[in-house]
Amino acid sequence: MRFSSIFAVLSGLAATVAAGAVSYPRPDIYSKSAHFSLRVNGEQMYTVSYDRYDYVHLSMDTGSPTEFRIKAMTESKINSYRISPMNLPIQAKVEGQELIFSLKQAHYLIVKINDRKEFVIMIDPKETDVPKERGDGIFNVLDYKADNTGKTLNAGIQSAMDAAGKKPGSIVYVPPGLYQMGNLVLRNRTSLYLAGGATLRFTGNAKDYKKYFKKGDLYDATWWISTEFDSQDIKIYGRGTIDGNGKNTRDNKYMAKLVVPAGTKNFRFDGPLVRDGSFWAVTPIQVTGCYLTNIKILDRFDVSQNDGIDVIESTRVTVRRAIAIANDDSFSTKTWLEDYGQTVPYPYRPRELRDVTFEDCLAWTFCYGYKVGQGVHELQENVVFKDSVVYKAGVGIGIHHLFGTAAANKVTFENIDIEDLAGSPGGRATWLAIWIREGLKRGVGPVTNTLIKNIKARKQGAKNGFLSGWNSTVKVSGVTFSDVYMNGASKPATTLKEMNLDNANHTFTEGIKFANTK
Ligand SMILES: *[C@@H]1O[C@H](CO)[C@@H](O)[C@H](O)[C@H]1NC(C)=O
Ligand SMILES: *[C@@H]1O[C@H](CO)[C@@H](O)[C@H](O)[C@H]1NC(C)=O
Ligand SMILES: *[C@@H]1O[C@H](CO)[C@@H](O)[C@H](O)[C@H]1NC(C)=O
Repeated sequence: MRFSSIFAVLSGLAATVAAGAVSYPRPDIYSKSAHFSLRVNGEQMYTVSYDRYDYVHLSMDTGSPTEFRIKAMTESKINSYRISPMNLPIQAKVEGQELIFSLKQAHYLIVKINDRKEFVIMIDPKETDVPKERGDGIFNVLDYKADNTGKTLNAGIQSAMDAAGKKPGSIVYVPPGLYQMGNLVLRNRTSLYLAGGATLRFTGNAKDYKKYFKKGDLYDATWWISTEFDSQDIKIYGRGTIDGNGKNTRDNKYMAKLVVPAGTKNFRFDGPLVRDGSFWAVTPIQVTGCYLTNIKILDRFDVSQNDGIDVIESTRVTVRRAIAIANDDSFSTKTWLEDYGQTVPYPYRPRELRDVTFEDCLAWTFCYGYKVGQGVHELQENVVFKDSVVYKAGVGIGIHHLFGTAAANKVTFENIDIEDLAGSPGGRATWLAIWIREGLKRGVGPVTNTLIKNIKARKQGAKNGFLSGWNSTVKVSGVTFSDVYMNGASKPATTLKEMNLDNANHTFTEGIKFANTK
């Protein structure tokens, strides 16, 4: 249904509602893109100027066509463009400075026009479970003295959370506004709802936070938003923003993991935008049952070790519909040593990692798009990366078995489109790297039963692909290649050579098989 656009006034901040689309107000601390504007069904969306890319976040009705018009404001005309994922059936046309297309489904897109910075368009489906601002079981942070003007450091959100924790099943409601926030501990069986236009911001100053650990090669660090240990049924949802203020934090020689579900069961994250991490941004640690969806992580390219999502020592985890843009790895899994730097605050003894699935994800990184490792100190088993896309990466997909003696067993990469490669993390620059090495005398362990299936590698990388065990007892054993299409080939590869894996370093591997179906 089409209706004329209206402006909904929410606590003094306007969310723009176009026919079928909602744009979220931009806090004053951000400025709009100087390069791009976006109209959706005729209505201007709130764009944000950022690091090497600008972005916009909106939600839309799905099922019927919605028109997108990107205006490249600095360009007299559009000579070239790329819309990623390239495998989407998007028919775009150019009219002068505008790139126009229509979508029926919500997608996360990276749009490159001429040689300008990228424009990241994050489209979510409309929210379906929006809570009331107040009511039975709803704790509005403004009723707990939260400052939504961004002027003072907030204790109000934790106060509302602590009150909610006394009544299991409650929701902490954060209305639009800017909140400078200290550590937040999410209580057992509560939900944190961030309305579109609500921005939680990390101050960047160590004095405002509890020290959780020190990382030897970097700085003291905190967990910004974490769960109570031994908790369950905690949820973070909505369309607000969690802003790690990471560049400033690192300039202050401090850092934070931003969203840390740890020692909890049945955790859910649905919808908020996470930006500017100063270290690994979203890290489920020793979680059993975890569902992260409609999750957007926009890190900067000038902050190191700012991985997107790192799943650590957790079981039954699904990451579905995600975009992670980061200097370091976009999506990875790890098992680590006890009481070692960043693991000091972990709730339990080291645990195995099992049954972790990443699907419908979009990666952009100078390191690995999709990776198991580094850190295989406990077994990692049944990790699946599927139906996903690499916009650009140093290494598209891989297993980097560095640190630890346990096995990485049954890792599957399936239906992955590697669009582009650039950079060379750890000397690798390739679509695929599976390798075992020893680091810091922390041992070596095997990689077993890997499946590489239905992969499109549009680029092979500046260096050789890499398939390499450690020695005759610690090997990469059992790698099955099924339907790997290299460099736009119409037929799947049938030899290592065709996949650029035919070099001296497929040493100490065994059981390499082809199982093409096409
Ligand atoms: C959370 O609630 C569950 C169910 O009531 C309970 O078993 C568990 O001990 C609680 N955890 C904490 C940290 O209070
Ligand atoms: C393989 O490497 C491991 C770890 O360094 C070592 O313990 C083992 O003896 C090596 N095996 C051989 C055959 O060299
Ligand atoms: C193979 O690996 C070894 C050890 O990492 C390295 O010295 C050598 O240069 C590599 N060879 C090739 C062809 O990549």
